[in-house]
Amino acid sequence: MNFEFTEEQLMIRDAARDFAQRELLPGVIERDEKSEYPTEQVKRLADLGFLGMLVGLEYDGGGMDTISYVLAMEEISKVDSSVSVIMSVNNSLVCWGVEKYGTEAQKQKFLKPMARGEKIGAFLLSEPEAGSDATSQRTTAVDMGDHYLVNGTKNWITNGKSASTYIVMAQTHPELKHKGINALLVDSKSEGITVGLHENKMGMRASDTCSVMFNNVKVPKENRLGEEGFGFKLAMQSLEGGRIGIASQALGIASGAYELALKYAQERKAFGKEIIHHQAIAFKLADMAVEIEAARFFCLKAAWLKDQGKPYGQASAMAKLYAAETAMKVTTEAVQIHGGYGYVKEYHVERLMRDAKLTQIYEGTSEIQKIVISRGLMD
Ligand code: CAA
Repeated sequence: MNFEFTEEQLMIRDAARDFAQRELLPGVIERDEKSEYPTEQVKRLADLGFLGMLVGLEYDGGGMDTISYVLAMEEISKVDSSVSVIMSVNNSLVCWGVEKYGTEAQKQKFLKPMARGEKIGAFLLSEPEAGSDATSQRTTAVDMGDHYLVNGTKNWITNGKSASTYIVMAQTHPELKHKGINALLVDSKSEGITVGLHENKMGMRASDTCSVMFNNVKVPKENRLGEEGFGFKLAMQSLEGGRIGIASQALGIASGAYELALKYAQERKAFGKEIIHHQAIAFKLADMAVEIEAARFFCLKAAWLKDQGKPYGQASAMAKLYAAETAMKVTTEAVQIHGGYGYVKEYHVERLMRDAKLTQIYEGTSEIQKIVISRGLMD
């Protein structure tokens, strides 16, 4: 077993850290406060190759491995998870499915611009009445011969407004239940699509999250990803990789909060000494460090399995569950260590705590991860 990163992986981590500190940190508080989409920052993410880092070089991606992805996601999420979620959804939930199951024509048309970061993708699975219970899709894609006619509403869509390409899960044969679901590549500017208002969220306020309505939207048959009825499996497989991204995001939120708390505890004095010399604070920091290290191992293990071409669904569910729970605990303690300062925006930890909450919810709640893990144990 090798615990060393390669030189290339370290270079990617350093580039992500540098980008986050220089280009994301200034303005992160204001973007959060105003719920302002990070347009310029996403362009820079594209320039640096992070938006399509997992896509192969032949399709204009970065050809990087999943370990590097974990490292980059951690560094970016230490500062701005509204940016890292855009990167995670584009790489793992959208580009991955097109690269793995798309036709050559779909890859040329849809994958290449997204891998270059010129266009952004969104993954449209959730619906008002199909969140955790994802097989209960109500959006329909009626087979009209040469095209599908799509009707329905999708909810909580990350990149809903900014995306040019949607992967839409829709039901073509309701009698077949999940086996009747198709995954369709849809141009977000197609006639009949209405994007709802930007949700006013508790955390990750700068990423755009909207509902998307489909009213008789014509989607050419050649835009179906994979075989007829493969849509639900494609969604589930995409989420296996997506959960590595969100686990790494949660890891970054936790380690960002921990670094701030450690620094504060070394500077802030109370009762005649730096507060880190009070055992109550030192033990909190020790617990935080242990849990972060464990979460990091979970993320890297899942990434390593994926890079080796081995099954990684169980490992990614474990990583997401553990890292999200760690992010919530660690950020709460980081606010506590900062005392009153932790409760105001300038010190960043309150934002990290709000952001952490979403990692326990999206791409499968912590409870859904336990379903996936426990079913795997029975298998
Ligand atoms: N890979 C391939 N196939 C899979 C799979 C996987 N990982 N997981 C399940 N399947 C298949 C099953 O084998 C089954 O197919 P067969 O009948 O042919 O065997 C089919 O899918 C249905 O599976 P289940 O019977 O297990 O379905 P279920 O209804 O009991 O529940 C679930 C499955 C795991 C709970 C699933 O519904 C789930 O993951 N829910 C959470 C959805 C989710 O994560 N949503 C997040 C939205 S995306 C988002 O947040 C993105 C964003 O914008 C940030």
